[in-house]
Amino acid sequence: KKRVLSGVQPTGNLHLGNYLGAIRNWVEAQSQYENFFCVVDLHAITVPHNPATLATDTYTIAALYLACGVDLNDSTIFVQSHIPAHCELTWLFNCVTPINWLERMIQFKEKAVKQGENVSTGLLDYPVLMAADILLYDADLVPVGEDQKQHIELTRDIVIRINDQYGSKKKPVLKLPEPLIRKEGARVMSLTDGTKKMSKSDPSEMSRINLLDSPEEIQKKIKRCKTDPIKGLEFDNPERPECHNLLTLYTLLSGKTQEAVAAECQDMGWGQFKTVLSEATIEALKPIQQNYQAVMEDKGYLESVLRQGREKAEAIALSTLSRVKAAMGYSTPL
Ligand code: TYM
Repeated sequence: KKRVLSGVQPTGNLHLGNYLGAIRNWVEAQSQYENFFCVVDLHAITVPHNPATLATDTYTIAALYLACGVDLNDSTIFVQSHIPAHCELTWLFNCVTPINWLERMIQFKEKAVKQGENVSTGLLDYPVLMAADILLYDADLVPVGEDQKQHIELTRDIVIRINDQYGSKKKPVLKLPEPLIRKEGARVMSLTDGTKKMSKSDPSEMSRINLLDSPEEIQKKIKRCKTDPIKGLEFDNPERPECHNLLTLYTLLSGKTQEAVAAECQDMGWGQFKTVLSEATIEALKPIQQNYQAVMEDKGYLESVLRQGREKAEAIALSTLSRVKAAMGYSTPL
């Protein structure tokens, strides 16, 4: 089986973008692959973070993986910081990665602007740590949203460089991974501006629907979301980004086809559509929220999932790390 690796940062809540762009796709395809799903808590400190909530947020994300349907028969769930090899491989990669590759990253540039004077070295190095996450497990495929594509291209550049410098054609050191980006849901947009992606860092809670939002919160957010004054609803009109985004959300959350949704909604007014979208969203999130409550009631179970996950993942990570160190000429530890 091909191997899959992906991860989410434990920065508070997960929103519909994280779910529809990533986790839902992990779950749908998981039986075809051997999967590793990581909670990337080392990435979470690349911007200022709250130490009082980091550990609980990490558990919340792991519980949400289970609640969304990650199946332990096909998949391993673990916490990035529990496996020191991620940091060690990052260091080795740092020393072959030109700074200008990192300075070019769109996400770095966007986040750096927001941080002003306080841009950490970690924020610049973020994609190298991500490369280590992927390459430690010899992943073939990395299912993510569109915004991560550039980081996976950088990961591929690191592979090519390491193989070129320390491997041979016959014996490459690292495996070249591919991004797996599903067109539908790859870029879920903000509820308050259809030209911006839905994001955890948007200061307005009204811009996103979180997986754990109550039905009342969901209704309120959809009621107030940005629309336009044009009559009738349609996909793919570049002048109506909000309309396209909301119809897409409805398509994905209701499980209907795009054609069915286009036909159903073409004559609807916004008021009627918002009620339909709210109901579909509440229905789609209900089982996830119920599963989440059940998982959170048994902390011992969640801990055992993460302990077993660490054991399985770490064995693979350590073997890759030794392979890379040997290729780079390191002596074996005595
Ligand atoms: P994070 O936590 O920012 O995002 C997690 C996943 O959600 C996707 N995503 C979206 N998809 C569609 N529309 C949106 N509005 C939206 N917002 C977020 C992201 O593309 C991502 O798939 N750097 C990664 C975390 C990471 C990782 C890795 C991923 C660290 N190491 C190794 C894969 C493999 C990230 O941005 O997480």
